[in-house]
Amino acid sequence: MLTHFSDLKQEALNRLEATDSLADLEQWRIAYLGKKGEVTAALRGLGQLPKDQRPAAGQAANQLKGLLEQAYASREQALKSAELASSITREALDVTLPGRPIAQGRLHPSTRTLREIYSIFANMGFQIVRSREVESDLFNFQLLNIPPHHPARDMWSTFHTTREGVLLRTHTSPGQIHTMRRFCPEPIRVLLPGKVYRYEQVTARAESMFINVEGLAVGKHITIADLKGTLVNFARRMFGPDRELRFRANYFPFTEPSAEADMDCILCGGKGCRVCKYTGWVEILGSGMVHPKVLANGGYDPEVYSGFAFGMGLERIAMLKHRIDDIRHFYSNDLRFLNQFS
Ligand code: PHE
Repeated sequence: MLTHFSDLKQEALNRLEATDSLADLEQWRIAYLGKKGEVTAALRGLGQLPKDQRPAAGQAANQLKGLLEQAYASREQALKSAELASSITREALDVTLPGRPIAQGRLHPSTRTLREIYSIFANMGFQIVRSREVESDLFNFQLLNIPPHHPARDMWSTFHTTREGVLLRTHTSPGQIHTMRRFCPEPIRVLLPGKVYRYEQVTARAESMFINVEGLAVGKHITIADLKGTLVNFARRMFGPDRELRFRANYFPFTEPSAEADMDCILCGGKGCRVCKYTGWVEILGSGMVHPKVLANGGYDPEVYSGFAFGMGLERIAMLKHRIDDIRHFYSNDLRFLNQFS
């Protein structure tokens, strides 16, 4: 019996020495120390020994078990550190390599310019109201004093939808009616920004989608002086304290009188250059006193209330401010363009 134990010990230790992975070691454990393992079987076999041999054999068996358990534990330790070491070399990480820079996002030039405009008008008491991009013919045209078949419709080439009377708004002016109906009879001072759509050839100067910023003020004593004062103030805060505006009579169906505002060219200061086509002036917006019919459509009595409105192309303002020469840069998502605005 005792020789059996000593053979078993030798064999177990030899095989333990030969294990080369934790999986291998587990096989070894099952074979010797597991429930059906050899050492367990030997311990069980003690009962069949003659009585006088049992104590010595029992002691030897327990010793063997303890010894193998210890050998197992230290082998496990050794294998674990070996596997760790090899995994470190296998998945080598060179901590001296330069890191990969994380690209930082930034605001789109349109968003930046919009925010500048918001803060200038917020300082003059204007609040921002949003309105829908998909509009009805009624709001985009009729309530703005542009009846069906009116020739002024040609001023806006329109994207129609398959639903009769439903279109993509061609300007933010329908927001005037929505706002008046919402706030009537309170006085109004709002900015109505948003995307507008025009079915036009895309060129360096015209996109089929761009952003309009509409302004509307309605109250009891609003005059054309308020309109001019507000817009001159805006131009100076946006483009510099020396800017001058020139108001040129014009026609819009929803304002009367109407005027387009030109600003002295920021590039040449009025001397004449390519940007202003050698006139010294650049057009920046359309404006006018709200037409009595439009006031009435908004719920305000034109005998009591008056108002002014204006509308500008956001990209045009940004182009002037940053000397951008092609409106198509705004929405073509070329990082070489976008990265210049931080
Ligand atoms: N809605 C006009 C346009 O897009 C601009 C405008 C707005 C003119 C308000 C006058 C008053 O052309």
